[in-house]
Amino acid sequence: MDDFLRTDDLTPETLQAVLDLADQLKADRRSRVSSTSTLIRSDLHGMTVALLFEKPSTRTRVSFQVAVHELGGHPLPLSSAELQLGRGETIGDTGEVLSRYCHAIVVRTFGQDRLDELAAAAAVPVVNALTDLEHPCQALADLQTLRAEFGALSGRSLAYVGDGNNVANSLLLAGAMAGMSVRVGHPDGYAPDPDIVARAERLAGDSGGEVVLTDDPAEAARGADAVYADVWTSMGQEAENEHRLEVFAPYRVTADLMDEAADDAIFLHCLPAHRGEEVTAEVIDGPRSRVFDQAENRLHAQKALLVTLVTAGD
Ligand code: CP
Ligand code: NVA
Repeated sequence: MDDFLRTDDLTPETLQAVLDLADQLKADRRSRVSSTSTLIRSDLHGMTVALLFEKPSTRTRVSFQVAVHELGGHPLPLSSAELQLGRGETIGDTGEVLSRYCHAIVVRTFGQDRLDELAAAAAVPVVNALTDLEHPCQALADLQTLRAEFGALSGRSLAYVGDGNNVANSLLLAGAMAGMSVRVGHPDGYAPDPDIVARAERLAGDSGGEVVLTDDPAEAARGADAVYADVWTSMGQEAENEHRLEVFAPYRVTADLMDEAADDAIFLHCLPAHRGEEVTAEVIDGPRSRVFDQAENRLHAQKALLVTLVTAGD
């Protein structure tokens, strides 16, 4: 793996290895905190990682910045507004130039084509920190959270309820690769990307997993080990917000919908959340919610990914 642009740039074996390393790094960090020894490792010693964000971010930006720092590297946060990119320089030229200075580039942008153009021009590993199509780093942290709860993921089920967006697309691929049953309950016209669904079905065929699409949120949630929600209006879709509030109202994750799931089912959300829209406060702030563990796992999973990418050629 040279880059992490799509969830299925990982093989099922590499996915497993990254998640195992993420668990090790999480335990290592906790023991360093409790023994007051240094948090700084040397995996990225002397390396600089550019963090280029064309959309807002709290978790991804901060967790990558802390991850690079704690791996002994130098994180370099950049926004398009402060680069020549904001004045019309191409994303390809930006990628080539950044790769002459930096050892890896983490990018949050709009179209997947922009990320692909940057990665094609860059000579160093490029990581997708969210595009309109995928959010693969989120899916890594989500699987780490599910493994912490349930152990082996094969045969477990995940119900994603709402918009078939970037988060849903990456969960389909990651869950299918891990042998899970991934069900997406979405309104008509808001299905996940068809090419990604086809790839997820192929992966599920190999892993013993399953992909189910339905317009019925209760059918998606029935018996599931985890119920997952994301915002109804993603970044860049703000003009559609009012219409989406109407379309998605039947897809809110409520205590009643959680009752359809398994007795020990957990609730997941990538955050940021809108209480009262895609999920009620009762659910997201209740005992089944693992949303802040998910947010924490962004740090550990991304550290594991960075170590895997920069040591790939060793
Ligand atoms: N979940 C997630 O990616 O959050 P941010 O947009 O805050 O990075
Ligand atoms: N689907 C959301 C995820 C935010 C982390 C968005 O793209 O805005």
